[in-house]
Amino acid sequence: MKVLLIGSGGREHALAWKLTASPLLSKLYCAPGNPGIAELAELVSLDVSDHQAVIAFCKEKVIDLVIVGPEAPLVAGLADDLRAQNIRIFGPSKAAAQLEGSKGFTKDLCARFDIPTGAYGRFNNAPKAKAYIRQQGAPIVVKADGLAAGKGVVVAMTLDEALNAVDACFEGAFGSAGAEVVVEEFLDGEEASFFCICDGKTALPLGSAQDHKRVGDGDTGVNTGGMGAYAPAPVMTAQMVERTMRELIEPTMCGMSEIGAPFSGVLFAGLMITKDGPKLIEYNTRFGDPECQVLMMRLESDLLEIINAAVDGRLDEVSLDWKDEPALTVVMAAPGYPTDVKKGSVISGLEALEDVDGVKVFHAGTAQKDGQLVANGGRVLNVTAVARSVSQAQAKAYETIRKIDWPEGFYRSDIGWRAVEREKSAS
Ligand code: AMP
Ligand code: GLY
Repeated sequence: MKVLLIGSGGREHALAWKLTASPLLSKLYCAPGNPGIAELAELVSLDVSDHQAVIAFCKEKVIDLVIVGPEAPLVAGLADDLRAQNIRIFGPSKAAAQLEGSKGFTKDLCARFDIPTGAYGRFNNAPKAKAYIRQQGAPIVVKADGLAAGKGVVVAMTLDEALNAVDACFEGAFGSAGAEVVVEEFLDGEEASFFCICDGKTALPLGSAQDHKRVGDGDTGVNTGGMGAYAPAPVMTAQMVERTMRELIEPTMCGMSEIGAPFSGVLFAGLMITKDGPKLIEYNTRFGDPECQVLMMRLESDLLEIINAAVDGRLDEVSLDWKDEPALTVVMAAPGYPTDVKKGSVISGLEALEDVDGVKVFHAGTAQKDGQLVANGGRVLNVTAVARSVSQAQAKAYETIRKIDWPEGFYRSDIGWRAVEREKSAS
């Protein structure tokens, strides 16, 4: 099969790595890709927001399957436009991608189909949002409705913080994403990410992970796209997975079909595991980045075969094999990330790590310049390891980092701390 993969981050490098292990693959293209992916695929400079250009490329190269990494092309309806031309694509339609594209849409779906989540209100003006906040009290959560690259959420511990967040949204801090605001009950518990692959009817669990969103050690500092992750999340016990499937995922699949927007692609549930069980924080309609990297490290099955089955609506015939071992990834970021990224510093020493067993260094934001590898984004490398325990995977990842010659790069030194503490107290 000839496959076109869309995206350029560590998530797509991990997907490319698993796809190239498939005997079903004859040729992999990636648009736009990165230097890590370039070792596995032919890079194509396509403007993916130009759907006609993507269609023309697929026709010219006789592409059998398109796989989309990030959310923006899905929310923009790339899947619909390709399907209208009979091009097979893995990813939800524009209507189904509203699960990520509009927080209000998802909250309304939860309300209608009895999916556990925090109480909420949707507002298109500041006075009404503020009145609701005053009535509910703090702590409370204020969210821009639309896609805001992970920045549109304020978890307000005080009333003032919440009221200011409403003003920021309506004053355009998140552009058009903030034209509507969702105000949501504060949920207390432990967070986990849970992933399913879906074909419109069947949802198959891909496992759980825990992300570290804050930039600094001890979960301090500003929010980022994710500074590291590990899988599985210990809080997602078999019983919790079963409840999540029954109480959240299956009603979502049924609900989406009922409203005429059956969901196919990757459904990524951001969960809060509360004392009353799993509650939905948000849905994303794609793999998490860097969660994908740890899921792919553990996947034994043929990714291309699974995605093919999803595109053909045959997931009910598929079962998945996973390594027993946990995986952990540490993000190495460029100085200044996430606010004021400084690009261009030189990275070396990666070649020596290529054959280390159970370790993969995925490229997230790198570029080739004058024959050297340089930092070219906020999150730059994902140093990923699989081992018998999270503690051992953590040790292996940090040992690898010490071998990478990139003095300007920084990283958190405590990725996996919750699971490491759990392992310590269990032994
Ligand atoms: P989101 O972009 O919706 O994932 O939100 C970013 C982060 O804000 C989440 O990972 C949570 O840590 C936090 N958050 C979002 N909604 C809530 C909520 N209702 N209660 C508590 N924390 C929340
Ligand atoms: N790591 C969080 C995300 O991909 O949304």
